Amino acid sequence: MNVEDVVQWVNNLIVDKTGEHLTPLQEAILTGVWQRQKYPQIAKEFNCSESHVKKEAAKLWEKLREELGEDLNKFNFRSKLEKKNRVSQNSKSGHCLLQVDNINIGGQFIQTIKNTQTRSPSPPHSSPNKDRSPIIDLTDAPELTSFYDRTSELSTLKQWILEEHTRLITIYGLSGIGKSTIALKLIEQIQTEFDRIIWLSLANTPALSTLETELKEFFGRSQQPQLPTMVDYFRTSRCLVILDDLQNIFQSDRLAGQYLAGYEDYGKFFKQIATSFHQSCLILISWEKPREIKTLEGENRPSRSLHLQGLGEQAAEVFKQQGLLDEEKWSELIAIYQGHPAWLNLIALTILELFDGSVSSFLEDKSDIYLGDLELFLDSHLERLSDSEKKVSHWLASQDDAIDISQPPAESELSRSQLWQAIQSLARRGLVAKESVGGRSLFRLNSIFKAYIQCNLQQIAS
Ligand SMILES: Nc1ncnc2c1ncn2[C@@H]1O[C@H](COP(=O)(O)OP(=O)(O)OP(=O)(O)O)[C@@H](O)[C@H]1O
Ligand SMILES: [Mg+2]
Repeated sequence: MNVEDVVQWVNNLIVDKTGEHLTPLQEAILTGVWQRQKYPQIAKEFNCSESHVKKEAAKLWEKLREELGEDLNKFNFRSKLEKKNRVSQNSKSGHCLLQVDNINIGGQFIQTIKNTQTRSPSPPHSSPNKDRSPIIDLTDAPELTSFYDRTSELSTLKQWILEEHTRLITIYGLSGIGKSTIALKLIEQIQTEFDRIIWLSLANTPALSTLETELKEFFGRSQQPQLPTMVDYFRTSRCLVILDDLQNIFQSDRLAGQYLAGYEDYGKFFKQIATSFHQSCLILISWEKPREIKTLEGENRPSRSLHLQGLGEQAAEVFKQQGLLDEEKWSELIAIYQGHPAWLNLIALTILELFDGSVSSFLEDKSDIYLGDLELFLDSHLERLSDSEKKVSHWLASQDDAIDISQPPAESELSRSQLWQAIQSLARRGLVAKESVGGRSLFRLNSIFKAYIQCNLQQIAS
């Protein structure tokens, strides 16, 4: 029995009997009491007074007494429920929640409810997940074709979602690095832990109200009557929502992660999802990290972010698939192009086109890094940078070593604060990386982006 199932079970019971949902504070009280917290601690975490928690708790125990006929309180809630659960399991009173049909739409799979029964008011089982058949809508997602190992990143994501119950996750990184691909793989691996899964792309910059309508329509297919807010849906069932291509609602020519005019309410929405009590998870996929996310992150915090980097040695699979020659040279190629799957694909095609697959011939001239079609990817990143970021990229591209930003260049047009902000912003786009050397933090421009900036100095200066 985990705490989310307990809260959900109590909520369903109260909805069944009274038509009302538990309030967020009542959910926090049940969670806290289950985890053997005292009222002052619950009050602190919920950011309200202890007397308010006591008053709300008294109402909650009274309601449960009426509905269950049991004298429940903060001291006996957990033990009584666990006992009830053991009895229920012994009598094999399992309860089926959803029956689903699989429908294939455009190569994706979508599952719809065949027959829904209301949840039984018997206590939740200790391992309900095995029986979950989620309703899934991936019509907006790209197709998952091949997949090369991302074991460590997938374990991190699973740990955050399944064990730490992180409510808001941002996966950010360069275009083509594999953000959508890893999210699709993640869904494949954890889908049975959820009741509903939906993928929505923000490529067409929908207003938040449009997005919410779409989400409510999806959740509402099995939920009558409709619930007032998204958080209500996130509370009543375990939902996984993926919002892809988030960078489309951020401004170009500005520091990273600033919303377009009229889209600021997305920021509030993300914050609400991160800080409200519920059992669901929202995953954001973006080229840049939303600015306000930082304040929600950290250990024991509701939000986490993963900066997705290249594939490592596994990227050799790309070359195997393309039939390149000179296997002993492949790791050199992977290192130059940072294991970036989309870049490696393009370079492999170039090697086939120009050198009949000979990696040695391609690598013979080491005077500069070949970019070719990669420039298209890099153009779209450059277009988004603010003036100060372009200036800083220009400066970093002229340096051989990583830079200590506590000693900015004397001739810089930027103030210290502008320089630091620009570095922060470039890091939020994954274009600058921090290195720790002898206790000092040094910053370095991504080497491929550096080569690109060096080739396009004129465009950047204008
Ligand atoms: N782990 C992987 N195994 C195999 N191929 C991969 C992997 N990751 C990415 N790719 C391939 O690289 C290409 C880019 O991947 P993907 O679309 O997931 O990138 P992205 O980060 O979502 O890019 P964008 O931000 O532009 O949407 C795709 O063709 C995908 O199949
Ligand atoms: Mg993508």
